[in-house]
Amino acid sequence: MSRKLQAPRGTLDVQPADGRRRLQIQRIAAELLGRGGYEPFDTPVFEDTDLFARGVGASTDIVQKEMFTFEDKAGRSLTLRPEATAAICRAYVEHGMHKLPQPVKLWSWGPFFRHEAPQAGRFRQFTQVDAEALGSDDPSLDAELILLLGELIERAGAGPARLRLSSLGTPETRAAYLDELRAYLREHEGELSEDVRDRLEANPLRAFDADHAGTQVVMAGAPRLLDRLDPADAEHFAEVRALLDAAELAYEVDSTLVRGLDYYTRTVFEFESERLGAQAALGGGGRYDRLIEELGGPPTPGVGWAAGIERILLASQAEPESDSRVYIAVLAEGRKDAFLLARLLREQGIRAEMEQAGRSMKGQLKQADRIGARATLIVGDQIEVKDMDSGEQQPVSDAGEAVSRVRELLG
Ligand code: HAM
Repeated sequence: MSRKLQAPRGTLDVQPADGRRRLQIQRIAAELLGRGGYEPFDTPVFEDTDLFARGVGASTDIVQKEMFTFEDKAGRSLTLRPEATAAICRAYVEHGMHKLPQPVKLWSWGPFFRHEAPQAGRFRQFTQVDAEALGSDDPSLDAELILLLGELIERAGAGPARLRLSSLGTPETRAAYLDELRAYLREHEGELSEDVRDRLEANPLRAFDADHAGTQVVMAGAPRLLDRLDPADAEHFAEVRALLDAAELAYEVDSTLVRGLDYYTRTVFEFESERLGAQAALGGGGRYDRLIEELGGPPTPGVGWAAGIERILLASQAEPESDSRVYIAVLAEGRKDAFLLARLLREQGIRAEMEQAGRSMKGQLKQADRIGARATLIVGDQIEVKDMDSGEQQPVSDAGEAVSRVRELLG
């Protein structure tokens, strides 16, 4: 017998109830971000592998273990995008967006791919909504974006979420700090997990993220980057915090906040659901003031975030919206009229479904009940309108009157 076909591991089919909730979140995002001046934007689903290797960082888990990389027929190495920021920066450079009025504010929505071990809230194909503001280092952009993400999570019904916030400073301060941290870790090498020891030179910050008890004890006494920021970065961070305070958004400054991407400078943040288990990060982001330059563009600051839609849905208790429906039951002689009536109702913004599966009249009325129709039109030689709440059924003289009667019933 041939193998049963199934969706690939770590992927999911979006079924109608979820599809409706996704659309709802997409509409909320479009509205919130639109009001903030963010414009819709998108980049290809696959890119030159080099973009992510350089943009996301060669020592990150994403680049080392999680990329879906393949060769095209001309032998070029391509990768399914694991995140949006590097590609948006590539596009900013490619389209000369530094010539536009700054900041350039963009948002996008789409599928992303990481070859991770699937578990609740972690997929190999997942959906992100992403927002970026390029071309200005104004701290109000950091604060504005954080507020927008917080509001999106709330309005999607996925709150309450804990906001963690930190600053990573500039690459120079970070390099000096990393030397200090490496020296500290080397002093305590015997107490660290093997994984942390292996990554000590390449990525000592990951030690703050370790589950290993011995490492955690060592890290409790480790030097903190937040105490080593240079004055300009400390000032920037203080301004971001002051704006969040003014907006009365609660946050925790957490100097152990580690993001899984290498491009960050200054502000970093993450919203965590109080309802989810291990994969609790609903969304996160930060500033990346050197990334565009590293990708070959002019020195250009940037800040942004991405949120995982599947996780927002898991944490969300919101009911999917359901709109009132009209069902059109059809007697043989009324087929053409019913078809035209469905079109007329839809043109008027009313959700109308006609009989399309050969049911008996009894079966059709049952179907109207099943879909929760508020009104049913029975179309034969003439049209009758049935109020599904009271059961009352009345003839109408023509299609126009049918629409008016339906409008009354839908309220
Ligand atoms: P990230 O933290 O890697 O950041 O991903 C953002 C969000 O995407 C996560 O908080 C999570 O909700 C969701 N996510 C990530 N991986 C998975 C997965 N395997 N399955 C389900 N959901 C997932 C970024 O991607 C940065 N590009 C954010 C950013 C934008 N920074 C600056 N601008």
